Amino acid sequence: MANILKDVVISDDKPKDLLLKKHIDYLLKYGTDTNDFEFCFTEYLRMSGMYWMLTTLATAKKLHLVSKDQFIEFIDQCFDKESGGISACPGHDPHILYTLSAVQIACILDSVDRLPVEEIVRYVSGLQLPDGSFTGDKWGEVDTRFSFCAVATLALLHRLDRIDVKKAVDFVLSCQNFDGGFGSQPKSESHAGLIYCCVGFLSITGELSRIDADLLGWWLCERQLPSGGLNGRPEKLPDVCYSWWVIASLTMLGKQHWVSKDQLKRFIFASQDCETGGFSDRPGDLPDPFHTLFGVAALSLLGESNLLPINPTFCMPQEGQLMLLQAAHKYD
Ligand code: FPP
Ligand code: ZN
Repeated sequence: MANILKDVVISDDKPKDLLLKKHIDYLLKYGTDTNDFEFCFTEYLRMSGMYWMLTTLATAKKLHLVSKDQFIEFIDQCFDKESGGISACPGHDPHILYTLSAVQIACILDSVDRLPVEEIVRYVSGLQLPDGSFTGDKWGEVDTRFSFCAVATLALLHRLDRIDVKKAVDFVLSCQNFDGGFGSQPKSESHAGLIYCCVGFLSITGELSRIDADLLGWWLCERQLPSGGLNGRPEKLPDVCYSWWVIASLTMLGKQHWVSKDQLKRFIFASQDCETGGFSDRPGDLPDPFHTLFGVAALSLLGESNLLPINPTFCMPQEGQLMLLQAAHKYD
């Protein structure tokens, strides 16, 4: 049976280069009106929203435009003393994803010394189950994205020794499929977002050589559509965030050249909003800070000038605090 190809057509009036200044203005303005509907209904992911914004600004060399203290104070307000975890927003439950975002923020702002490091490490290591997998929080959902969050957080804090890394690796490898890809759990469908998590996990733990990079590289490069954009699974539309999940995975595998970079850039550029600034998931849709980070981050990996190099494993600027450079391995 043939695969159905869903794609977009890029009209000639769409942007053809990076509108960086507009994106910076868009991000700095986002969140200044705290009564704004969109700002209110994204409360449940605020900590990650701050990480998306700071990573974009840092990659655009504009970190000096924000004040460090307001972010560190926000992390403080989201810290749950009892568990040691960090939530998305004051009053919400702690979760491993927002704990990682908070640690990433502190690293980007060179302020890890202001974090309750030992409590965070206790929280993350306490989420590991006997089979090596990780739950996202106390409610018990298991997903390979949480395995990534756990090792990324601990690597950034130099505390990987506080979990059973061998069992964690065995669990992630048990989620690899016949097509070379990875899903959220054993026998779950291959998905580019989860492939990023698993490849990133194996890069951090130094076990990238345990996967079949050629097979996985094929699956990943087949995500490129005639528009140049990348989708996350067969038969899905292209999406700017998958430009990141896929190109970062290919970069870690040393196979970035397996897709057409020029075509991918064309799709990413076309997904910018020339009026408001920001990137959307695909040309013509409304922009948001999530797709703005992944548009800029993918362009940085593709070598766009005016952007600082980004780390494909941690999705953080290579500069500054990034001792993670030693922590992340490339496929060879
Ligand atoms: C798509 O999810 C994306 C993923 C599964 C990857 C998520 C990655 C993390 C949580 C790790 C932290 C990330 C970084 C960059 C540090 P989706 O549920 O939107 O998938 P869909 O497009 O199929 O709906
Ligand atoms: Zn998306």
